[in-house]
Amino acid sequence: MSCFPCFSSHDKKASKKGKNSNSSGSGPIPTAAPPPPRSQPQPENPGKIPTEATNNKGVNNKPTTGEGDNKNIAAQTFTFRELATATKNFRQECLVGEGGFGRVYKGRFEKTGQVVAVKQLDRNGLQGNREFLVEVLMLSLLHHPNLVNLIGYCADGDQRLLVYEYMPLGSLEDHLLDPPSDQAPLDWSTRMKIALHAARGLEYLHDKANPPVIYRDLKSSNILLDKEFNAKLSDFGLAKLGPTGDNSHVSSRVMGTYGYCAPEYQRSGQLTVKSDVYSFGVVLLELITGRRAIDTTRRNEEQNLLSWNQYSRNQVGSQNWLIQFFKETLNQKV
Ligand SMILES: Nc1ncnc2c1ncn2[C@@H]1O[C@H](COP(=O)(O)OP(=O)(O)OP(=O)(O)O)[C@@H](O)[C@H]1O
Ligand SMILES: [Mg+2]
Repeated sequence: MSCFPCFSSHDKKASKKGKNSNSSGSGPIPTAAPPPPRSQPQPENPGKIPTEATNNKGVNNKPTTGEGDNKNIAAQTFTFRELATATKNFRQECLVGEGGFGRVYKGRFEKTGQVVAVKQLDRNGLQGNREFLVEVLMLSLLHHPNLVNLIGYCADGDQRLLVYEYMPLGSLEDHLLDPPSDQAPLDWSTRMKIALHAARGLEYLHDKANPPVIYRDLKSSNILLDKEFNAKLSDFGLAKLGPTGDNSHVSSRVMGTYGYCAPEYQRSGQLTVKSDVYSFGVVLLELITGRRAIDTTRRNEEQNLLSWNQYSRNQVGSQNWLIQFFKETLNQKV
């Protein structure tokens, strides 16, 4: 296999070996919520996609876009050997990031020259086979310019790998919350473009997919960027089919990422598409302020972006609040 550069503009992730210590990965969020009633689907049971991929009437109801199922393109299957070759045996220099699921490598298929991102399930990790199956199912059925494209997967023996289109600029987190010191902050129009693209991705999941899909994991590290800063939502392992008919919500174990998860869902375990809208609001606030949803390196009152926002509004008055934000965060002359 010929040599090719594995490093890209988000190479720093490789040296950082993944997640920023300030952000916590997706997963179960501790909650006082009562368990879902027995008649509801009992989620988080590894390997049981049909249960999770049902609506709360228990009907196996795959999401469609209303454009005909025949438009769905099945993901390809790869052998472990093919993916090992594409990533030079998962060499360190090909590592572009790491999350709760495992490590992400840049790879290239020799035959076609196609460059891909290969995510390898960490068998000791927090997330597992269930998220793998949900991801494959969801991304095989859902297609939109603002959702990352799943090229294929590998389920060879106990190996579980996902193969995605490669997003050369990495995640929004890399550029907004974790930029290298020599990198200029994202300009305002790019921030708004990213917000718009994320909103379009969500709109597709909520309003075009039938039944609606609740993403449950909207956060800056799951918004990936192509070379022109077009944004795509990624990581559908926690996605759930939304309520159908007269149901206002689906009940589920509380999953997501602390700081982005809607408080009413966290309290009750009752999930609606509005839970995603809340997370979108948190990302929007991150885009405006350049601050993390949760940042434990800051003073107590500033650690939670949302509470700090409310605190600042009370301190400086709602009229001056936005100006204060700009001054503090974008270092712009206002
Ligand atoms: N398709 C891709 N193309 C390029 N880089 C990617 C791709 N998918 C992921 N990455 C890189 O790998 C990093 C880790 O991604 P991953 O989804 O595994 O974890 P995360 O989103 O940071 O955390 P979590 O496990 O909580 O979702 C991302 O921040 C991004 O930099
Ligand atoms: Mg992710």
